[in-house]
Amino acid sequence: MGPEYMRTFIANMPKAELHLHIEGTLSPETILRLAQRNGVDFPYRSVEEIRQALAARPAGLEGFLDHHYLRIPLLQTERDFFDMTFDLLRSCKENNIVYTELFFDPQVHTSRGISFGDVIEGIDRGRRSGAEAFGVEANLIMCINRDRSVGSAFEMLDQARPHRRRIIGLGMDSYEEGHPPRKFEEVYSQAREEGYRLTAHCDVDQTDSVSHIWECLDLLNVERIDHGVNTIDDPDLVEEVKRRKIPLTTCPIWRSSDPAPQDTDRIKSLFDHGVLVTLNSDDPAEFDSGYLTNLIAGVQQASDYSKGDLVRLARNTFEASWLPLEAKNAYIEDLHAYAEANGVETT
Ligand code: HPA
Ligand code: ZN
Repeated sequence: MGPEYMRTFIANMPKAELHLHIEGTLSPETILRLAQRNGVDFPYRSVEEIRQALAARPAGLEGFLDHHYLRIPLLQTERDFFDMTFDLLRSCKENNIVYTELFFDPQVHTSRGISFGDVIEGIDRGRRSGAEAFGVEANLIMCINRDRSVGSAFEMLDQARPHRRRIIGLGMDSYEEGHPPRKFEEVYSQAREEGYRLTAHCDVDQTDSVSHIWECLDLLNVERIDHGVNTIDDPDLVEEVKRRKIPLTTCPIWRSSDPAPQDTDRIKSLFDHGVLVTLNSDDPAEFDSGYLTNLIAGVQQASDYSKGDLVRLARNTFEASWLPLEAKNAYIEDLHAYAEANGVETT
């Protein structure tokens, strides 16, 4: 099967996505519009300048985040959060994503004086209007910024309490170096008592990545790991992740300067070991991999996944989701109907 055939197969396949940061979806055009609307002095003045800055940023998590956070001051009002979420669900529809769990970072907004209420109201309204307009179902995961204090994370939990039913889970992201998962053990324990589903980022090739993943399992009691590619470095961890059926939300993104999607060999190896691997786009406006169809098409080429493998990966994502079992099974049935109509046997 040629690459164009596979791309079409991927494009039309009903998909889910579980590792997608709302704040990582501002296109250059949206950035310029928001800068004007809110009178924010963004350092880059044209689509071309924004693209060049993205291409020039240093590799790795810190290079990414330093650039990512420049965009945050553009978001000022409830309407901005609404627009961002509504636009994202339109992009999901264009990618045949039927279900998604979206990350947002309350602390980067509340620390600028924007109320938690404005943030969640805009995002939740965007989520509901987007579902109506595009038929894409979404749930929300709020992330702790791990480089901020434990007190600030508890404060976020307090602020979220009146909105508890609008938020399905708790995650953790931002700068990982020097901020191990154990720092937030008590916050996770409190969140679990409040009924949040739990996940946490363990970014790729950080100092102590493997022990961070163990801490997430043993101290935070997470149900998923975001990224988690370094699981492959420890055979006992591979076995434990399989035993506990912990999904990994991997993000084999690429930048314009990368020769290929990142980490595909390790991801394929985890997949071959039977780990519940899922493919996700992370911050689609900030990587050349873009949105999910394009990302999976690139990964398929790099790792030579068959149509059956691609269906398995898509099924993993529905299985890894926090949907009720019945809804999960309904989506999986639709996926299997698509697979069988395209000559892929399912069991
Ligand atoms: N890792 C850590 N922080 C982030 C990420 C990520 O993948 N995306 C946005 N913030
Ligand atoms: Zn992420």
